[in-house]
Amino acid sequence: MKPITVSVVGLGQMGSALVAPLLRGGNAVTVWNRNKEKAAPLVALGAQLADSIENAVKASELIVVCLSSYDISDTLFREPKVQPLLSGKTFIQLTTGTGDEAARSAAWAKDAEFSYLDGAIMDYPAAVGTAGCLLLASGPEASYKHYADHLRLLGGKFTYVGKNPAAANHLDGGLLTLYYATTFGFLQSAAMLEAADVSVETLKNAVDSFRHVLDKTMARATDSLSRKDYTGHEASIVVHSYGVQTLRDRARLAGVDYSLLQLFSEYLEKTRDMGFHAAELPATFEIFRRTR
Ligand SMILES: NC(=O)c1ccc[n+]([C@@H]2O[C@H](COP(=O)([O-])OP(=O)(O)OC[C@H]3O[C@@H](n4cnc5c(N)ncnc54)[C@H](OP(=O)(O)O)[C@@H]3O)[C@@H](O)[C@H]2O)c1
Repeated sequence: MKPITVSVVGLGQMGSALVAPLLRGGNAVTVWNRNKEKAAPLVALGAQLADSIENAVKASELIVVCLSSYDISDTLFREPKVQPLLSGKTFIQLTTGTGDEAARSAAWAKDAEFSYLDGAIMDYPAAVGTAGCLLLASGPEASYKHYADHLRLLGGKFTYVGKNPAAANHLDGGLLTLYYATTFGFLQSAAMLEAADVSVETLKNAVDSFRHVLDKTMARATDSLSRKDYTGHEASIVVHSYGVQTLRDRARLAGVDYSLLQLFSEYLEKTRDMGFHAAELPATFEIFRRTR
């Protein structure tokens, strides 16, 4: 891999984590942050501190951005004295945002004549630079390919999602929805078990043996949604509905918050009322999907 010049703008918890793997890959890394003190440990590792955002842009061919929001990024980079310096460079936005923000940024990059990739980091800062860390990027394929080896320093599972600049943010939203639903499910379970004097470690150990059921359920839902066929012979919506009502009642009787389980119960009742009594669980997709 040929070493490159790369600037990292934004040295919060995540932005700071991006610097060491890029340095380990032999690249010349320049950093910039509003609060300069956060750069000190990265300068100690070998990064150069730019004294202005203009100098951070001038220093490198690849600009990696990780800030709190796209609005902050726009405020910094759309400045009349900064934007022209981006011409001919590649900019990868790793700030979390929406598909619309990614599309808007790609249109801006086209006008300002630089290459724009939009990305997302699907792990915690401590995982950045490891083989298992997943990052996503979308935008011009040639730009991704040009820097793929360098970007893979940030995570062995760095994945190109497609030409549509919004694609990475859409997939990020999908994975985060799953992340929150699973985490809240786990915490609801922990609260119910705590009320029954069962430890969270017991729950975690059981989840390790149960995980294959979750994987199987997602695989079946994928198959069912792609075939547009909710029929099956495993467990009907009526059976799931009774099961979730029982769960909700168990939580209520234990004095635990049961609003999440009440919501699940309502989803199943609505699915049943849409005529899917005998269908399998993926029929609930009909409640979530876009209707307009
Ligand atoms: N942390 C994670 O686990 C994680 C995981 C995946 C994705 N992400 C994403 O990574 C991005 C950064 O997250 P983070 O955890 O690094 O957040 P953070 O620690 O709060 O850092 C925020 C960064 O934005 C900068 N910033 C905020 N307001 C600014 C302003 N008005 N002008 C200039 N700079 C400003 C901060 O500069 P100062 O230091 O000067 O305040 C800092 O560099 C977010 O989009 C987040 O969703 C984070």
